[in-house]
Amino acid sequence: MSILSGKRILLVIAGGIAAYKSLDLIRRLRERGASVHAVLTPAAQHFVTPLSVASLSGEKVHTELFSLTDEAEMGHIELSRDADLVVVAPATADLLAKLANGLADDLASTLLLATDKKVLAAPAMNLRMWLHPATRRNISRLREDGVEFTGPEEGEMACGEFGPGRMSEPLAIVAAAEKILAAGDTAIPLPPGVGVRPNAKKSALAGKRVIVTSGPTHEPIDPVRYIANRSSGKQGHAIAAAAARAGAEVILVSGPVNIPDVSGAKTVHVETAREMLDAVRAALPADIFISTAAVADWRVDHAAEDKVKKSGDAPPSLKLVENPDILATVSQLDARRPKLVVGFAAETTDLIAHAQQKLARKKCDLIVANDVSAASGVMGGAQNTVHIVEAGKVTDWPRLAKEEVAQRLVALCAERLAERKS
Ligand code: C5P
Repeated sequence: MSILSGKRILLVIAGGIAAYKSLDLIRRLRERGASVHAVLTPAAQHFVTPLSVASLSGEKVHTELFSLTDEAEMGHIELSRDADLVVVAPATADLLAKLANGLADDLASTLLLATDKKVLAAPAMNLRMWLHPATRRNISRLREDGVEFTGPEEGEMACGEFGPGRMSEPLAIVAAAEKILAAGDTAIPLPPGVGVRPNAKKSALAGKRVIVTSGPTHEPIDPVRYIANRSSGKQGHAIAAAAARAGAEVILVSGPVNIPDVSGAKTVHVETAREMLDAVRAALPADIFISTAAVADWRVDHAAEDKVKKSGDAPPSLKLVENPDILATVSQLDARRPKLVVGFAAETTDLIAHAQQKLARKKCDLIVANDVSAASGVMGGAQNTVHIVEAGKVTDWPRLAKEEVAQRLVALCAERLAERKS
Protein backbone atom coordinates (compact mmCIF):
# COMPACT_ATOMS: atom_id res chain seq x y z
CA MET A 1 0.00 0.00 0.00
CA SER A 2 1.30 3.48 -0.85
CA ILE A 3 2.16 5.88 1.95
CA LEU A 4 -0.21 8.22 0.10
CA SER A 5 -3.20 6.09 1.15
CA GLY A 6 -5.51 8.21 3.32
CA LYS A 7 -3.32 11.31 2.91
CA ARG A 8 -4.75 14.69 1.95
CA ILE A 9 -2.93 16.55 -0.77
CA LEU A 10 -3.50 20.22 -1.48
CA LEU A 11 -2.57 20.62 -5.15
CA VAL A 12 -1.87 24.14 -6.35
CA ILE A 13 -2.00 24.36 -10.14
CA ALA A 14 -0.38 27.48 -11.54
CA GLY A 15 -0.67 28.77 -15.10
CA GLY A 16 1.65 26.95 -17.46
CA ILE A 17 1.30 24.63 -20.41
CA ALA A 18 2.33 21.75 -18.11
CA ALA A 19 -0.95 22.21 -16.21
CA TYR A 20 -2.48 19.49 -18.40
CA LYS A 21 -0.12 17.00 -16.74
CA SER A 22 -1.61 17.90 -13.36
CA LEU A 23 -4.80 16.17 -14.44
CA ASP A 24 -2.86 12.92 -14.71
CA LEU A 25 -1.10 13.72 -11.44
CA ILE A 26 -4.50 13.90 -9.71
CA ARG A 27 -5.37 10.46 -11.08
CA ARG A 28 -2.06 9.00 -9.93
CA LEU A 29 -2.43 10.43 -6.43
CA ARG A 30 -5.98 9.17 -6.11
CA GLU A 31 -5.05 5.72 -7.42
CA ARG A 32 -2.76 5.51 -4.41
CA GLY A 33 -5.56 6.37 -2.00
CA ALA A 34 -4.83 10.08 -1.49
CA SER A 35 -7.56 12.71 -1.59
CA VAL A 36 -6.76 15.79 -3.65
CA HIS A 37 -8.07 19.28 -3.02
CA ALA A 38 -7.06 21.49 -5.92
CA VAL A 39 -6.55 25.22 -6.17
CA LEU A 40 -6.24 26.87 -9.58
CA THR A 41 -4.65 30.26 -10.12
CA PRO A 42 -6.46 32.57 -12.57
CA ALA A 43 -3.76 31.84 -15.19
CA ALA A 44 -4.10 28.07 -14.67
CA GLN A 45 -7.72 28.30 -15.72
CA HIS A 46 -6.53 29.22 -19.25
CA PHE A 47 -4.91 25.79 -19.48
CA VAL A 48 -7.24 23.49 -17.53
CA THR A 49 -10.81 24.09 -16.40
CA PRO A 50 -12.02 23.88 -12.79
CA LEU A 51 -14.63 21.42 -14.05
CA SER A 52 -12.10 18.92 -15.39
CA VAL A 53 -10.04 19.21 -12.19
CA ALA A 54 -13.16 18.77 -10.03
CA SER A 55 -14.26 15.74 -12.06
CA LEU A 56 -10.90 14.05 -11.63
CA SER A 57 -10.36 14.98 -7.99
CA GLY A 58 -13.95 14.32 -6.94
CA GLU A 59 -13.67 17.41 -4.73
CA LYS A 60 -14.66 21.03 -5.01
CA VAL A 61 -12.00 23.13 -6.74
CA HIS A 62 -11.01 26.45 -5.20
CA THR A 63 -10.09 29.49 -7.28
CA GLU A 64 -11.00 32.62 -5.35
CA LEU A 65 -9.43 34.17 -2.28
CA PHE A 66 -12.50 36.18 -1.43
CA SER A 67 -15.26 33.64 -1.91
CA LEU A 68 -17.98 33.82 0.69
CA THR A 69 -19.26 30.34 -0.12
CA ASP A 70 -15.81 28.80 0.17
CA GLU A 71 -15.09 30.63 3.42
CA ALA A 72 -18.36 29.39 4.94
CA GLU A 73 -17.50 25.82 3.99
CA MET A 74 -13.82 25.85 4.83
CA GLY A 75 -11.76 28.98 5.51
CA HIS A 76 -8.65 29.46 3.40
CA ILE A 77 -6.37 29.11 6.42
CA GLU A 78 -8.00 25.80 7.25
CA LEU A 79 -7.72 24.67 3.62
CA SER A 80 -3.98 25.29 3.83
CA ARG A 81 -3.65 23.37 7.10
CA ASP A 82 -6.03 20.54 6.39
CA ALA A 83 -3.58 18.89 4.01
CA ASP A 84 -0.77 16.46 4.83
CA LEU A 85 1.32 17.88 1.99
CA VAL A 86 1.06 20.82 -0.40
CA VAL A 87 2.11 20.11 -3.99
CA VAL A 88 2.58 22.94 -6.48
CA ALA A 89 2.48 21.57 -10.04
CA PRO A 90 3.23 23.27 -12.28
CA ALA A 91 5.12 25.80 -10.17
CA THR A 92 5.57 28.81 -12.43
CA ALA A 93 8.38 31.38 -12.16
CA ASP A 94 5.79 33.90 -11.04
CA LEU A 95 4.30 31.79 -8.23
CA LEU A 96 7.75 30.76 -7.00
CA ALA A 97 8.82 34.42 -7.00
CA LYS A 98 5.77 35.32 -4.95
CA LEU A 99 6.46 32.57 -2.43
CA ALA A 100 10.16 33.45 -2.21
CA ASN A 101 9.17 37.01 -1.36
CA GLY A 102 6.22 36.22 0.87
CA LEU A 103 3.63 37.81 -1.39
CA ALA A 104 0.02 36.75 -0.89
CA ASP A 105 -2.30 38.50 -3.31
CA ASP A 106 -4.42 35.58 -4.48
CA LEU A 107 -5.68 32.25 -3.15
CA ALA A 108 -2.70 30.12 -4.25
CA SER A 109 0.00 32.43 -2.86
CA THR A 110 -1.99 33.04 0.34
CA LEU A 111 -2.34 29.31 0.97
CA LEU A 112 1.36 28.78 0.38
CA LEU A 113 2.22 31.45 2.92
CA ALA A 114 -0.35 30.31 5.49
CA THR A 115 0.27 26.59 5.39
CA ASP A 116 1.94 24.72 8.22
CA LYS A 117 2.81 21.75 5.99
CA LYS A 118 5.71 20.92 3.71
CA VAL A 119 5.54 22.27 0.18
CA LEU A 120 6.71 20.22 -2.81
CA ALA A 121 7.15 22.29 -5.98
CA ALA A 122 7.43 20.93 -9.53
CA PRO A 123 8.74 23.91 -11.52
CA ALA A 124 7.84 24.32 -15.17
CA MET A 125 8.89 27.27 -17.26
CA ASN A 126 10.83 28.40 -20.28
CA LEU A 127 14.53 27.59 -19.87
CA ARG A 128 15.64 31.24 -19.92
CA MET A 129 13.17 31.98 -17.15
CA TRP A 130 14.53 29.00 -15.18
CA LEU A 131 18.15 30.12 -15.74
CA HIS A 132 17.46 33.79 -15.02
CA PRO A 133 19.40 35.06 -11.97
CA ALA A 134 16.13 36.18 -10.38
CA THR A 135 14.69 32.67 -10.57
CA ARG A 136 17.99 31.14 -9.37
CA ARG A 137 17.87 33.50 -6.38
CA ASN A 138 14.26 32.62 -5.63
CA ILE A 139 14.89 28.88 -5.86
CA SER A 140 17.86 28.96 -3.50
CA ARG A 141 15.90 31.11 -1.06
CA LEU A 142 12.96 28.70 -1.20
CA ARG A 143 15.28 25.73 -0.62
CA GLU A 144 16.61 27.51 2.47
CA ASP A 145 13.01 28.04 3.56
CA GLY A 146 12.44 24.27 3.41
CA VAL A 147 10.54 24.03 0.13
CA GLU A 148 11.27 20.73 -1.66
CA PHE A 149 11.64 20.48 -5.42
CA THR A 150 11.22 17.84 -8.05
CA GLY A 151 12.59 18.70 -11.51
CA PRO A 152 12.53 20.52 -13.77
CA GLU A 153 13.68 18.02 -16.37
CA GLU A 154 15.71 18.77 -19.46
CA GLY A 155 14.02 18.43 -22.80
CA GLU A 156 12.23 20.11 -25.61
CA MET A 157 9.98 22.94 -24.48
CA ALA A 158 6.56 23.81 -25.82
CA CYS A 159 8.20 26.97 -27.18
CA GLY A 160 10.70 24.94 -29.28
CA GLU A 161 13.81 25.60 -27.16
CA PHE A 162 15.78 22.81 -25.50
CA GLY A 163 17.05 22.70 -21.91
CA PRO A 164 15.88 22.52 -18.29
CA GLY A 165 12.34 23.68 -17.63
CA ARG A 166 9.99 20.79 -18.33
CA MET A 167 7.79 19.79 -15.40
CA SER A 168 8.58 16.39 -13.87
CA GLU A 169 6.33 13.60 -15.04
CA PRO A 170 3.35 12.87 -12.74
CA LEU A 171 4.87 9.61 -11.48
CA ALA A 172 8.11 11.38 -10.55
CA ILE A 173 6.08 13.96 -8.59
CA VAL A 174 4.19 11.12 -6.90
CA ALA A 175 7.51 9.48 -5.96
CA ALA A 176 8.81 12.78 -4.53
CA ALA A 177 5.60 13.21 -2.51
CA GLU A 178 5.88 9.65 -1.19
CA LYS A 179 9.47 10.27 -0.15
CA ILE A 180 8.54 13.37 1.83
CA LEU A 181 5.60 11.65 3.52
CA ALA A 182 7.71 8.56 4.30
CA ALA A 183 10.22 10.80 6.08
CA GLY A 184 7.58 11.48 8.74
CA ASP A 185 5.44 14.33 9.99
CA THR A 186 5.10 17.07 7.38
CA ALA A 187 3.91 19.71 9.86
CA ILE A 188 6.29 22.64 10.29
CA PRO A 189 6.53 23.52 13.99
CA LEU A 190 6.10 27.09 15.20
CA PRO A 191 8.69 28.71 17.46
CA PRO A 192 7.98 28.19 21.17
CA GLY A 193 5.50 30.61 22.72
CA VAL A 194 3.39 31.30 19.64
CA GLY A 195 0.46 29.50 18.07
CA VAL A 196 -1.41 28.75 21.27
CA ARG A 197 -2.39 31.62 23.54
CA PRO A 198 -0.35 31.31 26.74
CA ASN A 199 -3.48 31.64 28.89
CA ALA A 200 -5.66 29.57 26.58
CA LYS A 201 -8.31 27.45 28.27
CA LYS A 202 -7.35 23.85 28.86
CA SER A 203 -8.37 21.64 25.94
CA ALA A 204 -12.15 21.41 25.96
CA LEU A 205 -12.26 17.65 26.63
CA ALA A 206 -9.08 17.21 28.69
CA GLY A 207 -9.52 14.38 31.19
CA LYS A 208 -12.72 13.13 29.48
CA ARG A 209 -13.27 9.72 27.96
CA VAL A 210 -15.13 9.55 24.65
CA ILE A 211 -16.34 6.46 22.77
CA VAL A 212 -17.08 6.91 19.07
CA THR A 213 -18.48 4.26 16.73
CA SER A 214 -17.78 4.59 13.03
CA GLY A 215 -18.23 2.89 9.66
CA PRO A 216 -20.64 0.15 8.65
CA THR A 217 -21.05 -3.29 10.16
CA HIS A 218 -20.78 -6.45 8.08
CA GLU A 219 -23.29 -9.16 8.85
CA PRO A 220 -22.23 -12.52 7.41
CA ILE A 221 -24.51 -14.58 5.19
CA ASP A 222 -21.85 -17.26 4.76
CA PRO A 223 -18.02 -17.16 4.91
CA VAL A 224 -17.79 -15.07 1.72
CA ARG A 225 -20.94 -12.94 1.63
CA TYR A 226 -22.29 -10.31 3.96
CA ILE A 227 -24.94 -7.60 4.39
CA ALA A 228 -23.51 -4.10 4.68
CA ASN A 229 -24.19 -0.45 3.82
CA ARG A 230 -22.36 2.39 2.12
CA SER A 231 -20.86 4.09 5.18
CA SER A 232 -17.21 5.09 4.59
CA GLY A 233 -16.38 5.87 8.23
CA LYS A 234 -15.13 9.35 7.25
CA GLN A 235 -17.49 11.23 9.56
CA GLY A 236 -17.01 8.96 12.58
CA HIS A 237 -13.24 8.90 12.20
CA ALA A 238 -13.19 12.70 11.85
CA ILE A 239 -15.17 12.97 15.11
CA ALA A 240 -12.73 10.65 16.90
CA ALA A 241 -9.82 12.75 15.60
CA ALA A 242 -11.48 16.01 16.69
CA ALA A 243 -12.21 14.61 20.18
CA ALA A 244 -8.59 13.49 20.48
CA ARG A 245 -7.41 16.97 19.42
CA ALA A 246 -9.71 18.40 22.11
CA GLY A 247 -7.72 16.44 24.69
CA ALA A 248 -10.08 13.50 25.27
CA GLU A 249 -9.07 9.88 25.70
CA VAL A 250 -10.82 8.41 22.66
CA ILE A 251 -11.86 4.84 21.94
CA LEU A 252 -12.89 4.50 18.32
CA VAL A 253 -14.92 1.35 17.65
CA SER A 254 -14.77 0.94 13.90
CA GLY A 255 -16.55 -1.40 11.52
CA PRO A 256 -14.72 -2.44 8.32
CA VAL A 257 -13.52 0.73 6.52
CA ASN A 258 -10.87 1.62 3.97
CA ILE A 259 -9.46 4.61 5.82
CA PRO A 260 -6.57 4.68 8.29
CA ASP A 261 -6.94 4.50 12.07
CA VAL A 262 -7.03 7.85 13.85
CA SER A 263 -3.81 8.93 15.48
CA GLY A 264 -4.40 9.83 19.10
CA ALA A 265 -7.36 7.43 19.46
CA LYS A 266 -7.37 3.78 20.46
CA THR A 267 -9.08 1.95 17.61
CA VAL A 268 -10.96 -1.30 18.17
CA HIS A 269 -11.83 -3.07 14.91
CA VAL A 270 -15.06 -5.04 14.70
CA GLU A 271 -17.13 -6.63 11.95
CA THR A 272 -20.67 -7.17 13.19
CA ALA A 273 -23.21 -5.16 15.19
CA ARG A 274 -22.96 -7.60 18.07
CA GLU A 275 -19.19 -7.27 18.15
CA MET A 276 -19.59 -3.49 18.04
CA LEU A 277 -21.93 -3.55 21.04
CA ASP A 278 -19.52 -5.80 22.96
CA ALA A 279 -16.60 -3.47 22.17
CA VAL A 280 -18.59 -0.41 23.27
CA ARG A 281 -19.62 -2.11 26.53
CA ALA A 282 -16.00 -3.10 27.14
CA ALA A 283 -14.90 0.51 26.58
CA LEU A 284 -17.33 1.92 29.19
CA PRO A 285 -17.41 3.94 31.38
CA ALA A 286 -17.22 7.10 29.32
CA ASP A 287 -18.28 10.73 29.59
CA ILE A 288 -19.54 10.92 26.01
CA PHE A 289 -20.78 8.28 23.56
CA ILE A 290 -21.10 9.30 19.91
CA SER A 291 -22.82 6.68 17.79
CA THR A 292 -21.83 7.55 14.22
CA ALA A 293 -21.68 4.00 12.89
CA ALA A 294 -24.23 2.95 10.31
CA VAL A 295 -25.06 -0.27 12.10
CA ALA A 296 -26.84 -2.89 9.97
CA ASP A 297 -30.37 -3.14 11.29
CA TRP A 298 -30.63 -6.86 10.53
CA ARG A 299 -28.42 -9.90 10.40
CA VAL A 300 -29.00 -13.34 8.96
CA ASP A 301 -30.40 -15.55 11.69
CA HIS A 302 -27.95 -18.40 11.21
CA ALA A 303 -25.03 -17.54 8.94
CA ALA A 304 -24.03 -20.62 6.94
CA GLU A 305 -20.73 -22.21 7.90
CA ASP A 306 -19.94 -23.07 4.29
CA LYS A 307 -20.50 -21.07 1.14
CA VAL A 308 -24.13 -21.24 0.08
CA LYS A 309 -24.27 -22.95 -3.32
CA LYS A 310 -26.62 -22.29 -6.19
CA SER A 311 -28.98 -25.25 -6.20
CA GLY A 312 -31.84 -25.78 -8.64
CA ASP A 313 -33.53 -22.57 -9.74
CA ALA A 314 -34.87 -21.24 -6.44
CA PRO A 315 -32.56 -18.64 -4.84
CA PRO A 316 -32.00 -19.22 -1.11
CA SER A 317 -34.19 -17.22 1.24
CA LEU A 318 -32.55 -15.41 4.12
CA LYS A 319 -34.21 -15.21 7.50
CA LEU A 320 -33.28 -11.86 9.01
CA VAL A 321 -33.37 -11.02 12.69
CA GLU A 322 -32.96 -7.61 14.27
CA ASN A 323 -29.56 -6.51 15.52
CA PRO A 324 -29.16 -4.95 18.95
CA ASP A 325 -29.55 -1.17 18.86
CA ILE A 326 -26.26 0.00 20.30
CA LEU A 327 -27.30 3.63 20.71
CA ALA A 328 -30.57 2.77 22.46
CA THR A 329 -28.80 0.22 24.67
CA VAL A 330 -26.13 2.67 25.81
CA SER A 331 -28.70 5.49 26.30
CA GLN A 332 -30.72 3.29 28.60
CA LEU A 333 -27.95 1.99 30.82
CA ASP A 334 -28.38 2.91 34.46
CA ALA A 335 -25.18 3.57 36.34
CA ARG A 336 -22.88 3.28 33.35
CA ARG A 337 -24.79 5.61 31.01
CA PRO A 338 -22.37 8.19 29.64
CA LYS A 339 -23.36 11.73 30.65
CA LEU A 340 -23.88 12.68 27.04
CA VAL A 341 -25.17 10.26 24.39
CA VAL A 342 -25.19 11.42 20.77
CA GLY A 343 -26.74 9.60 17.83
CA PHE A 344 -26.96 10.17 14.11
CA ALA A 345 -30.02 10.00 11.93
CA ALA A 346 -29.30 9.29 8.32
CA GLU A 347 -32.54 9.74 6.42
CA THR A 348 -33.69 10.20 2.87
CA THR A 349 -37.11 11.74 3.71
CA ASP A 350 -38.70 13.80 6.55
CA LEU A 351 -35.29 14.26 8.10
CA ILE A 352 -36.11 16.41 11.13
CA ALA A 353 -39.33 14.60 12.08
CA HIS A 354 -37.57 11.22 11.97
CA ALA A 355 -34.64 12.58 13.98
CA GLN A 356 -36.99 13.95 16.65
CA GLN A 357 -38.74 10.59 16.92
CA LYS A 358 -35.37 8.86 17.16
CA LEU A 359 -34.23 11.21 19.92
CA ALA A 360 -37.27 10.28 22.00
CA ARG A 361 -37.32 6.56 21.16
CA LYS A 362 -33.62 5.96 21.75
CA LYS A 363 -33.50 8.29 24.75
CA CYS A 364 -30.31 10.02 23.67
CA ASP A 365 -29.41 13.65 24.32
CA LEU A 366 -28.68 14.90 20.83
CA ILE A 367 -29.19 13.66 17.27
CA VAL A 368 -27.13 14.80 14.32
CA ALA A 369 -29.54 14.54 11.41
CA ASN A 370 -28.19 14.27 7.89
CA ASP A 371 -29.76 13.81 4.51
CA VAL A 372 -28.20 10.76 2.88
CA SER A 373 -30.33 10.67 -0.26
CA ALA A 374 -28.20 9.88 -3.33
CA ALA A 375 -28.51 13.52 -4.48
CA SER A 376 -26.86 14.80 -1.26
CA GLY A 377 -23.57 12.97 -2.00
CA VAL A 378 -23.02 12.53 1.76
CA MET A 379 -22.34 8.77 1.77
CA GLY A 380 -18.64 8.43 0.99
CA GLY A 381 -18.36 12.15 0.17
CA ALA A 382 -16.22 14.77 1.88
CA GLN A 383 -18.99 17.09 3.02
CA ASN A 384 -22.09 16.95 5.12
CA THR A 385 -25.10 19.17 5.80
CA VAL A 386 -26.40 18.45 9.28
CA HIS A 387 -29.07 19.63 11.69
CA ILE A 388 -28.59 19.35 15.43
CA VAL A 389 -31.75 18.00 17.03
CA GLU A 390 -32.10 18.32 20.80
CA ALA A 391 -35.18 18.24 23.03
CA GLY A 392 -37.29 21.20 21.87
CA LYS A 393 -34.59 22.67 19.64
CA VAL A 394 -33.25 22.25 16.10
CA THR A 395 -30.10 24.04 14.88
CA ASP A 396 -29.18 24.02 11.19
CA TRP A 397 -25.53 24.01 10.25
CA PRO A 398 -24.31 25.03 6.78
CA ARG A 399 -22.78 22.54 4.34
CA LEU A 400 -19.37 21.79 5.82
CA ALA A 401 -16.41 19.50 5.34
CA LYS A 402 -16.87 16.38 7.48
CA GLU A 403 -13.81 17.46 9.51
CA GLU A 404 -15.48 20.80 10.27
CA VAL A 405 -18.74 19.07 11.26
CA ALA A 406 -16.63 16.90 13.57
CA GLN A 407 -14.86 19.85 15.15
CA ARG A 408 -18.08 21.77 15.75
CA LEU A 409 -19.83 18.70 17.13
CA VAL A 410 -17.01 18.01 19.56
CA ALA A 411 -17.07 21.66 20.72
CA LEU A 412 -20.86 21.42 21.18
CA CYS A 413 -20.53 18.17 23.16
CA ALA A 414 -17.93 19.79 25.42
CA GLU A 415 -20.36 22.68 26.01
CA ARG A 416 -23.32 20.39 26.76
CA LEU A 417 -21.19 18.26 29.09
CA ALA A 418 -20.10 21.35 31.00
CA GLU A 419 -23.76 22.53 31.29
CA ARG A 420 -24.78 19.15 32.69
CA LYS A 421 -22.28 19.41 35.48
CA SER A 422 -23.21 22.89 36.62
O1 C5P B 1 -32.56 3.76 13.73
P1 C5P B 1 -31.40 4.25 12.95
O2 C5P B 1 -30.52 3.17 12.41
O3 C5P B 1 -31.74 5.24 11.87
O4 C5P B 1 -30.56 5.11 14.01
C1 C5P B 1 -29.34 5.70 13.73
C2 C5P B 1 -28.56 5.90 14.99
O5 C5P B 1 -28.64 4.75 15.81
C3 C5P B 1 -27.10 6.08 14.71
O6 C5P B 1 -26.56 6.89 15.72
C4 C5P B 1 -26.57 4.66 14.78
O7 C5P B 1 -25.18 4.65 15.13
C5 C5P B 1 -27.41 4.07 15.87
N1 C5P B 1 -27.71 2.64 15.71
C6 C5P B 1 -27.16 1.73 16.61
N2 C5P B 1 -27.45 0.39 16.52
C7 C5P B 1 -28.28 -0.04 15.57
C8 C5P B 1 -28.86 0.86 14.64
C9 C5P B 1 -28.53 2.19 14.74
O8 C5P B 1 -26.38 2.14 17.48
N3 C5P B 1 -28.56 -1.34 15.49
